[in-house]
Amino acid sequence: MLKNKISLVMLLIASVLMVGFINTKPLKQRNLKILPADITDEKLDSLMITYNKGLGVTCNFCHVQEVKNGDTTLNFASDDNPVKEEARRMIRLTIDINQKYFNYDSKIHPAYLTRISCNTCHKGNAYPEE
Ligand code: HEC
Ligand code: HEC
Repeated sequence: MLKNKISLVMLLIASVLMVGFINTKPLKQRNLKILPADITDEKLDSLMITYNKGLGVTCNFCHVQEVKNGDTTLNFASDDNPVKEEARRMIRLTIDINQKYFNYDSKIHPAYLTRISCNTCHKGNAYPEE
């Protein structure tokens, strides 16, 4: 009886471990130099949409367009559009301001702090007026 209970417990532990193992998806291979490597698709999308809104642009302002089988697509991982590198400096700047001057919640990754955003300075304009 006791033996049976022990094997049952062992089986339970084993299955919990197995499920845990199956659920640990490998990180997506992304070309991220500033944003966290473990960012979720949802978080990445919502950040990118704030860039669109803040600058009054569409995704192709920073991401290079490619034509594949007659279809135009955006290559998000590519760094061929120089504006993307400019944007990286701006993301860095935004993170730094938030972290240095407004970081009241250190549990949140600084890339996700929103006190200052692109829109704070840009106000829907890619090239803000002086
Ligand atoms: C103002 C410039 C800018 C705009 C506009 C922009 N992005 Fe990005 N995007 C970036 C930068 C910069 C990175 C890389 C960030 C890093 O290096 O951490 C990036 C990364 C990405 C990635 C990750 C690519 C990879 O390496 O796997 C995806 C996906 C993406 N953007 C989608 C979008 C979508 C969809 C839109 C429109 C809704 C958009 N972006 C609009 C600047 C921009
Ligand atoms: C503290 C204010 C401020 C914040 C915050 C800010 N920007 Fe900027 N950004 C500027 C200014 C000012 C310019 C114009 C620079 C110039 O004319 O040389 C600029 C220019 C740019 C440019 C044009 C390229 C260039 O270097 O001239 C891009 C792209 C850009 N910003 C993206 C972003 C993105 C994306 C964010 C949010 C992640 C952001 N900015 C946040 C102030 C800001």
